[in-house]
Amino acid sequence: MTDERTCLAIVLAAGEGTRMRSTRPKVLRTIASRSLLAHVLDAVREAGGTMTAVVVGAGGDGVAAEATRVVPAAEIFVQAERRGTAHAVLAAKSAIARMPDDVLVIFGDTPLIRPQTLSRMRRGLADGAALVVLGFRPKDPTGYGRLVLEGNELVAIREEIDASETERAIGLCNGGSMAFAGPTALAILERIGNDNRKGEYYLTDAIAIARSMGRKAIVIETEEDDVRGVNTNAQLAETEAVLQQRLRKAAMEAGVTLVAPETVFLSSDTKLGRDVVVEPFVVFGAGVTVEDNAVIRSFSHLDRAHVGKGASVGPYARLRPGARLEEDVHIGNFVEVKEAVIETGAKANHLSYIGDATVGAGANVGAGTITCNYDGVGKYRTEIGKNAFIGSNSALVAPVRIGEGAYVGSGSVITRDVPPDALAVGRGRQEIKEGWARRRREAGPATRKKAPAK
Ligand code: UD1
Ligand code: CA
Repeated sequence: MTDERTCLAIVLAAGEGTRMRSTRPKVLRTIASRSLLAHVLDAVREAGGTMTAVVVGAGGDGVAAEATRVVPAAEIFVQAERRGTAHAVLAAKSAIARMPDDVLVIFGDTPLIRPQTLSRMRRGLADGAALVVLGFRPKDPTGYGRLVLEGNELVAIREEIDASETERAIGLCNGGSMAFAGPTALAILERIGNDNRKGEYYLTDAIAIARSMGRKAIVIETEEDDVRGVNTNAQLAETEAVLQQRLRKAAMEAGVTLVAPETVFLSSDTKLGRDVVVEPFVVFGAGVTVEDNAVIRSFSHLDRAHVGKGASVGPYARLRPGARLEEDVHIGNFVEVKEAVIETGAKANHLSYIGDATVGAGANVGAGTITCNYDGVGKYRTEIGKNAFIGSNSALVAPVRIGEGAYVGSGSVITRDVPPDALAVGRGRQEIKEGWARRRREAGPATRKKAPAK
């Protein structure tokens, strides 16, 4: 039903976030590896927002860039001076004047707003309200605008500093987000004045004005998490915790086994297939995909990596950007993979660094193998052919190629290409000195500093 209606979403992001004591704009702080602003923009898109306007403050170039990264068609409006929430909304006046059916106003620092909540607000408009307010009942209402009802009708919102004693006792509060019917939105917004204790243009005055125009304003109630605002670093952490719980729950509902869910940290774009098992204490950075039946074992850290079907990662593995493991690959403990394709069934089970490389199907990379990809100036590639065997503790000095089926003796330093099916041993020959150790023992401590005679 709301699908056919056009919807302009105006996201207010002109705040400076002074209470976070950070040099970064507040809405660019991240939870689950995504900016607060991006979370809000995602929710708007999922709720059917067809046009997006983002209101930034003076010097909000970084915020504008993030907005257009997430929604390339987003229009950016600048509110040069902070003169209140209604003043901020009117920065996007030209977009409202195009008269979309629905106008959603959302704060950029309430990242947990769910698309279904925004959709419920839009439904209120489709059912004939001129204005829909998102209400909630906080444990502590201090600081919030109170919703003043007469019977079932919303008659006003009173900001705390302007509220009377009786109004302050009201438990139902304004969550901040509001939805306006497009055709009357501008008429209402332009009548808002700044005759209050702060001298600001309050968006919340829209309710009383709508009523004076004979239009209906309604409240939709939601849970506190939906409207949780981020003003401090502590609130940022609380919001992260709530989002992590949502992400873990969604993963489990989709068929993933999280052995100890509270110890696994996900990103909002983490994709885990069916029957994937994630052991305790695993961190997923942004851009990770894990296909069906793979196992991610404890204490592993994955970032912009792909794990193929049935593969096994960890414990204590690190997959860095560009790591692509195909099916049934084994990456074991203390192995780091960066910008490398590990083809089907290949194994690197212990203590390795594989960077800027291709490891062919079925190859075995022995313990302690290092691809020496960097010489202090440039980065170079290592190519290991199918079914090759790299003996333990070898250094593969890139650029270098190990042919299919080749065998590298353990402890080798490989600086030249190895042909297919060849043996390469890149280390000094072993020397044997008969009786040397016994003679040294018998010579006693006095002569220890000198090497015993050959
Ligand atoms: C606002 C509501 C209050 C509600 C509360 C919920 C108003 C007048 N009050 O109060 O009823 O209970 O949110 O959290 O709307 N902003 C701008 N430009 C401005 C002013 C604000 O972009 O000139 C942005 C801020 O960055 C922020 C949002 O609007 O994202 C809300 O502003 P804020 O000053 O935090 O409003 P509150 O006083 O919390
Ligand atoms: Ca606020």
